[in-house]
Amino acid sequence: MRTDDDSWDITESVGATAIGVAAIRAYETSREDALFHDPYAAKLVAAVGSEGWNAMMSGALSRRSISDGDYQAWSMGNVLVARTVYFDEYFAAAVRAGIRQIVILAAGLDARAYRLEWPSDTRIFELDQPKVLAFKARALADGEPAADRREVPVDLRQDWPKALLDKGFEPDQPTAWLAEGLLRYLPGHAQTQLLEHVVELSAPGSRMAINLGTGSGDPADEFRERRRKVMADAGLKLDLEDLFYPWEGREDPRSWFAMHRWLVTEGDPVALLEDRGRAVPEAVRAGMTQHILMTATKPRGDDTL
Ligand SMILES: C[S@@+](CC[C@H](N)C(=O)[O-])C[C@H]1O[C@@H](n2cnc3c(N)ncnc32)[C@H](O)[C@@H]1O
Repeated sequence: MRTDDDSWDITESVGATAIGVAAIRAYETSREDALFHDPYAAKLVAAVGSEGWNAMMSGALSRRSISDGDYQAWSMGNVLVARTVYFDEYFAAAVRAGIRQIVILAAGLDARAYRLEWPSDTRIFELDQPKVLAFKARALADGEPAADRREVPVDLRQDWPKALLDKGFEPDQPTAWLAEGLLRYLPGHAQTQLLEHVVELSAPGSRMAINLGTGSGDPADEFRERRRKVMADAGLKLDLEDLFYPWEGREDPRSWFAMHRWLVTEGDPVALLEDRGRAVPEAVRAGMTQHILMTATKPRGDDTL
């Protein structure tokens, strides 16, 4: 049961979802036809020290699951791979456009500060719950970030802009923001407040990338139950839908940013995988296409809408 001021460590509640994402990145990295390489993902999952997560990392997404008809789990796995590629390319484009200030909201076990190529004058702020960031710092203690990485331990339902400014964020510089795997863990009003803060803190030329599952893709009870069982068999207690806040009553960020006169473009997770030679099973397409992948750009003075 979520509350307005709940908090968590990496293995608890919403914190554990960050391990799930890292486990999928580790699995994708291990494939011969991997669409990205995240060498830190397996290390981060291993640092949790849970047999269950190690088992999930190597086996949960095997093709066996799809023949069991467990398509929701696969839909999510496919979306996770697609969104990683999409956001990696988003940051590469932002850097090419001259942006040097990066803010990763709800960074979790995202290792982009370590694994992507950044110009040396790039500053990357990572925001998440204090215990989640502390775990990551311990697990990657011998890693070397490829940019000036700054941790901002904070709750994103609280006054995070102050915490960000205190760490040296410069609101007059264009920023590339990311909210990956975050918004459904916030109540609708907290999502709106977060987006408003992003707009307030964004100089012209800033960008925001988001993914968000819409309500229509929430799994039916039988799949939810099966997924719960797969997780429980691995000794893991994690039910995403218990941690999500509803889609209903929430702003659609596509129209929200358009209303704020930002330029909105959308990614298509199915096409993204297929364009890179990854077959997308028929059974997972519906679950994937309900998933929003988007980028919004705040026009510079000379841009036209
Ligand atoms: C599904 S994980 C995604 C992590 C990362 N963005 C990625 O894609 O690898 C969700 C993350 O959101 C963070 N999170 C959710 N709600 C938060 C809040 N209110 N304040 C700070 N962090 C939050 C969790 O701690 C967790 O790390």
